[in-house]
Amino acid sequence: MKIMVSDKLAPEGVKLMEDAGHDVLKAWDESKDKLPELIKDCDALVIRSATKATKALIDAAPNLKVIGRAGIGLDNVDVEYAKSKGIIVVNTPTATTISVAELTFTFILASYRDIVAGTNTTKAGKWEKKALKGKEVYGKTIGIAGIGRIGQAVAERAVAFGMKVLAYDPYVQSDKYENVSIDDLVSRSDFITLHLPLTPETKHMISTKQFESMKTGVVILNVARGGTIDENALYEAMKSGKVKMAALDVFEVEPPASNKLLELPNLICTPHIGAQTDEGQNRAGVMVAEAVMEKLKQ
Ligand code: MLT
Repeated sequence: MKIMVSDKLAPEGVKLMEDAGHDVLKAWDESKDKLPELIKDCDALVIRSATKATKALIDAAPNLKVIGRAGIGLDNVDVEYAKSKGIIVVNTPTATTISVAELTFTFILASYRDIVAGTNTTKAGKWEKKALKGKEVYGKTIGIAGIGRIGQAVAERAVAFGMKVLAYDPYVQSDKYENVSIDDLVSRSDFITLHLPLTPETKHMISTKQFESMKTGVVILNVARGGTIDENALYEAMKSGKVKMAALDVFEVEPPASNKLLELPNLICTPHIGAQTDEGQNRAGVMVAEAVMEKLKQ
C-alpha cells in the first residue's frame, strides 16, 4: 500500500511501515500546496499537526482508507468528512501523556521559582537574590480542569510534591481526587491548569468572570489548547496582578506573532512543545504506524 507521511515522523515509525512492505512517500519537506497532487494514489496519510487533512485534501485521494495523526488533537483533521467517505481516522492518545505532564510541571515549578528571570538577570550581570525570593509548591492547591490521561499524570506529580488536587471534568469523575465544579476550582486553587480539548463547550471557559473569582496571586497554565482561556481577559488579569504568572504552551493563534500577552513580564511560554520530546515523538511515530497498518489490513 502507498502511505504518504506529510509531517516529519520519528524514523522508527517510517521504518516499521517500510519493513512491512509499504511504499512510504516521505513528503514532509514538500510545500503543503503540493500535497493534493502527491496524495492522489495514496491509501493512507500520516500527519502530525502541520498538515491540515481538509475536505479538499481528502477529495484529492480517491483511494484513501486511513488517516493517522501522530498525536492527540484531531483539530487539523476533518473527521466528520473523512468518516462520511468511509475513511478511518486514528490517533495516538497515550503516546505523549508523560511529555505533556512533565512540561506542565516544569511550568509549575518555574512559576514559583522564577528560573526565567533568574537566568536572564544573572546572564545580564545582575545578582537578584532578594528579588527572586520564591515560594514552595508544597501544601498549595492545584485545580486540574480535565482529568483524563494528562490531567491524571499531572495530578500524580502534584501529589508527589505535596500539593492538594482539585479535579473538574465535565465527563469523568475522579475516584482519587476531590471532584469540584469549575466555579469551585477557579476560586480555591493556587494553580489552575487546563487539560481539555478546544470545543464549543470549552472555548473561553476561563474568562473575565472566572478571573474575578480567582485568588489573587494565582498561577494559570495552559499546555492543552489555545482558545480555552480568553486571552484578552487573561491579559487584564495579569496586568492587574490578580494572576501572578501565566504559563502558556499554546495560544489562540499560533505562532502568536502580535499577541500582547508576549509583552508581559509575568508570562512564561513555549512554542507548543508539550509533546515535543524524543520519547513522546518516538512513541507517537511507532503507535501511529502500527495503527495505520492495522486499519489498512481491514
Ligand atoms: C497533540 O495534540 O498531540 C499535541 O498538541 C501535539 C501537537 O499537535 O503538536
